[in-house]
Amino acid sequence: MEKEKIILDVDTGSDDAIAIVCALLSEELEVLGITTVGGNVELKNTTDNTLRVVECCGKGGEVGVYMGSELPLVSTLVPWGIQGLTLPRKEERFNEKVRVHPQHLPLPETKLQPEEKRAANWLVEKLLSMPDHSVTLVPVGPQTNISLAIRTDDRILKKIKRVVMMGGSHDHYAPTQGAEFNVWCDPEAVEIVLTSGLDVTMVSLDATSHAVLNREQAEAIRAIGTAPAKLVADMIEQRLTASEKVLKGAPGQVVGAALHDPLAVCAVTHPEVLKDVRFTSCHVDLGRGYAYGETVLGRNYYGREDENGVVVSLPANCHYAASADAGFFYHWLYDLLAKAKK
Ligand code: BDR
Ligand code: CA
Repeated sequence: MEKEKIILDVDTGSDDAIAIVCALLSEELEVLGITTVGGNVELKNTTDNTLRVVECCGKGGEVGVYMGSELPLVSTLVPWGIQGLTLPRKEERFNEKVRVHPQHLPLPETKLQPEEKRAANWLVEKLLSMPDHSVTLVPVGPQTNISLAIRTDDRILKKIKRVVMMGGSHDHYAPTQGAEFNVWCDPEAVEIVLTSGLDVTMVSLDATSHAVLNREQAEAIRAIGTAPAKLVADMIEQRLTASEKVLKGAPGQVVGAALHDPLAVCAVTHPEVLKDVRFTSCHVDLGRGYAYGETVLGRNYYGREDENGVVVSLPANCHYAASADAGFFYHWLYDLLAKAKK
């Protein structure tokens, strides 16, 4: 069986760490490289955390890590500024005792270094060297690197088979009343991807809010006994604790360990994990108002034409997943980790 070639784009991050483990250990995926972006923590930490996970999976020297953008394309000040008026400031967030995303993952320090080339440059070079429609992009953080690569050389578009992204929301939201974190961090970048003509599957927060694991499941994973399984169990427990202590009671927040990013990796090889997938128009609000960074879905008039053939609403550009099969997802995660032991 030919493996599906993917490039992961991450802001590691507790759930990104699990996504990397899944991608690196999956028998069905070939990871061409991992690009990092600022998001859950600063770029230097997302990169270092990513390298630690690569080492934990025994893939050091085999899978390159390419450092990307620290800041978004345009909205440099907005995430922690205007919209952040009611949120704790960034520095305070870094000092929180219970964090969803630790600055340093609980893994040994690594001597692994990022590659010399930066993410957007590497994406262009690597993709241009590949056959047409051969690579699946899996961005699970802000999409700055990918949009920069598209704007740098749009010949990469025909090399990309599809994009399976984690981000966006309709019914669930954080950190503003309308936006999901990854899109909110770099709204313009996601709009570039959504209007690129690429085949995009959006594993939304609505879908990942179903991919919630509990302590018993974390313990079962820990009992597999490998270093990657221990990391996954630690991350699930970290997210559970943070969710119980920090997010509890916040409207629109799931209490439990929602594993957003690994669900996107699962959806690459097992699309059946996604439920309620609608092919619809999806765009990002770029108006810098209350809805800045919100994903706006077509509702009733999916690319419908009037009697003169004029499109009366925006054409469908996105497979929007609104739900997921939690049981399937857990068993996929467990089996993948258990199989990798052998
Ligand atoms: C997304 O935001 C990040 O905090 C997670 O890593 C995930 O990619 C969920 O909204
Ligand atoms: Ca992420």
